Amino acid sequence: MSSTTRERLISLLSESDGYLSGQKLSQIIGCSRTAVWKHIEELRKEGYVVEAVQKKGYRIIERPNNLNPGEIKHQLKTEKFGHTIYYESQVTSTQELAHKHALDGTEEGSIVIADEQVSGKGRLGRAWHSPKGSGIWMSIILRPNIPPQKSPQLTLLAAVSVVQGIEEVTGLNGQIKWPNDILIDGKKVVGILTELQAEADRINSVIVGIGINVNTPREAFPEEIANTATSLKVEAGEEIERAKLVRAILEKMEKLYLLYLEHGFAPIKLLWEGSAASLGKRVRVRTITGVLFGRAQGITEEGVLLVEDDEGTVHRVYSADIELPHNT
Ligand code: BTN
Repeated sequence: MSSTTRERLISLLSESDGYLSGQKLSQIIGCSRTAVWKHIEELRKEGYVVEAVQKKGYRIIERPNNLNPGEIKHQLKTEKFGHTIYYESQVTSTQELAHKHALDGTEEGSIVIADEQVSGKGRLGRAWHSPKGSGIWMSIILRPNIPPQKSPQLTLLAAVSVVQGIEEVTGLNGQIKWPNDILIDGKKVVGILTELQAEADRINSVIVGIGINVNTPREAFPEEIANTATSLKVEAGEEIERAKLVRAILEKMEKLYLLYLEHGFAPIKLLWEGSAASLGKRVRVRTITGVLFGRAQGITEEGVLLVEDDEGTVHRVYSADIELPHNT
């Protein structure tokens, strides 16, 4: 089934109050009734429970928790974000694929999303655990007309969007650990990796990669992150609909991105500070040149972290791992 026919069928059945007959569906989609029936069979294989009643037609009574473009686009309220979706059941890394689509000129707001990544990429050259079916592994392509040195601002913007999306869908209150980890109850639930395609003075595209542990069971985290990572399901105590969360994030992100393009970083900075876990606290900062202890004072207009050490010197931190020691 072509993805556009599938998307069309899902949205027609989803938007209809009652049943839709095979004849009506075939007329709207422009195919035979037998083709409609075959498409319905395909949807069932994907996990949709579609009821078929003689003389009435079809209706969806249960949806799978999947990330198919049709599921994401159904009820998506954005102007551009998520209108082009490259979905794969398995990829090396959505970042890798997004770089290719960005070079090929895909429109701004396009997303690459996968059910599983076999070589998910984290910050600072680390791997990102991306098991099948339980998370959101997504890369969003942006083309802002800003100088490359301002691109870290978009990472912070993305973190705020994800916090807002999570809150809307689950009611959970995420805290951002600079620059872009989202923690719930002190454990990491989201990681964000921003990569650039740029020349010295201009950005061609920014690829914002977002990894969210959505329905990962507690026991499924590998040993090395079992004590520091969590999932939304573990924290909320219930399964979360992944496509709904993707929609919420795209909607929040598009709004904040337009706000940013019009009014600059100031309003985003305020929102970011409102969700920041580290501000005012003692932190341990690990950079490639060494370790620094101090109090996180705030972020600059460029998104740089300011840390005051015990001698009163303020350090500008561009790239680092921040630890929040207990009792600070
Ligand atoms: C981090 O180290 O905290 C950042 C993790 C970013 C993971 C996401 S998952 C989607 C996208 N594709 C990748 O390979 N990485 C990012």
